[in-house]
Amino acid sequence: MNSFDQLINRKDTGSLKWDNMPQKLGLTGNDLLPMWVSDYDFKAPTLVLDALQQRIDHGVFGYSERDDTYYQAIIDWYQNHHNTVVKKEWITTVHGVLPGLSLAIQMLTKSGDSIVLQSPGYGSFRKIINLNDRVVVENPLLENDGEYQLDFEHLEACFAQGTKVLIFCNPHNPTGRVWSEAEVLKIAELCRKYHVWLLSDEIWGDLAISDKQYYSALRLPDLLRERLIVATAASKTFGLSSLRISNFMIPDESVRSEYLRNLDAHGMDVFNCLSIVAATTAYQTCSDWLEELRSYLRENITQLEQFISKELSGVRFIPPQAGYLAWLDCRLLNLTDTELEERFIRAGIVPSMGISFGKEGTGFVRLNLGCPKATLNEAFIRIKEALT
Ligand SMILES: Cc1ncc(COP(=O)(O)O)c(C=O)c1O
Repeated sequence: MNSFDQLINRKDTGSLKWDNMPQKLGLTGNDLLPMWVSDYDFKAPTLVLDALQQRIDHGVFGYSERDDTYYQAIIDWYQNHHNTVVKKEWITTVHGVLPGLSLAIQMLTKSGDSIVLQSPGYGSFRKIINLNDRVVVENPLLENDGEYQLDFEHLEACFAQGTKVLIFCNPHNPTGRVWSEAEVLKIAELCRKYHVWLLSDEIWGDLAISDKQYYSALRLPDLLRERLIVATAASKTFGLSSLRISNFMIPDESVRSEYLRNLDAHGMDVFNCLSIVAATTAYQTCSDWLEELRSYLRENITQLEQFISKELSGVRFIPPQAGYLAWLDCRLLNLTDTELEERFIRAGIVPSMGISFGKEGTGFVRLNLGCPKATLNEAFIRIKEALT
C-alpha cells in the first residue's frame, strides 16, 4: 500500500479543517467531509517525524536559534530543486507566511495605502490588507475557457494610480497557475518602473506538478531585486503548517535590516526548536518523499478529471499546474453561490466557495485533493449527489 493511502482520523486533534467547521463556517454535522483548508490529510515524512521525536526525547526546550545547518539546508534545496541561488544573508525567518506578509505590509505602507492583488486570489491576502487598514486594488486575471493569464495592461493602470505594493502569488492559489520566467520578469519590470514593492508569495513553489517550471523571483536580475521580498516555506510542501515557520528572502540589504528590525520589535527573533528541526530535516532529506507525493497528487487530479468528464457535464476543470487544489468552474449549472454551497453541504462535503477568493470566483468551488484515494472516492460520491 502506498503510504499516502493511509486513512488517518484527524478529528479531535484541533484540526482547523476537520474540527473547526462550526466555529469558522457555522457548519455542524458529524459526517461532513472537509475539502476546504489547504493542508494534507497525510502524515508528514517519516524522516521528519523521527527527527522531531529525537528532539523531543532530548527533553529540554529552552530558547532556540537557527544554526548553519538550517541555512545550508535551505540554500541547497533552492539550488538543487529550483536552480535558484539563495545567499545566507538574504534569509529571514518568520512564524508563518501570513504573519511575515502582514509585517511587510506594515513596514512598506501606511494606513489607507493601496495594495494590488490578482483575483481570484487567496482570501487571507485580502483579510490581512483590510485588517491592517490598507486598501485592496484588484487586478483580475484574464480568464479564457478556464485558462488564466495576467492582465499586464490593467496592472500598469493600477500601478500608475500610486499603488505601493503588489502581492504576487507564484504559483497561484486558487487557480494552480505556474507563472513563466517571462511573466515574472514582466511583473518585476512593471514594479520597478512604478517603484512598487514586489511581495512574491512562493509557498506553493515546491509543488509544481506539470511540465511547467516554477520560476522564483529570486532568479531575477539584481536590478529587479531591489524592491523584492520572497516568502517561502517548507510547510505547504511537507505538511507542516501548524509548526509555523517560513523564510522571507530579502536580497536588498537595507530593506532586510529594516525587516529584521521589525521582527525584533515584535519579539520574533527566537524560534520554535521543533519547527527548525522539521524544516531542516525536510529540506535535507525528503526529496524522495516529495517526488512520491507529487505523483500521488497527479493521480488524484487525473481521477478527478476522469470523474468530472464521465459524471458532471456542467462542470469544467483545468488541472492545476501546481498544488493540490482543484478549481472547479460550475457556472454552467446556473446556480447562485448560495445554492451551490447548499448543494455541497447537503451532500456532506465542504468546499472552499469560489466567491471567498473575490467576485471573479463566483460560480466556482475549490476542492482540496491532498487526501487518500479512499477519501477522494467518497468525495466523488458526494459531489455527484450535490451536482446532478
Ligand atoms: C498563497 C498562500 N500563502 C500563504 C498561506 C499560509 O501560509 P502560513 O500558514 O505560513 O501563514 C497559504 C495557505 O494556504 C497560501 O495558499
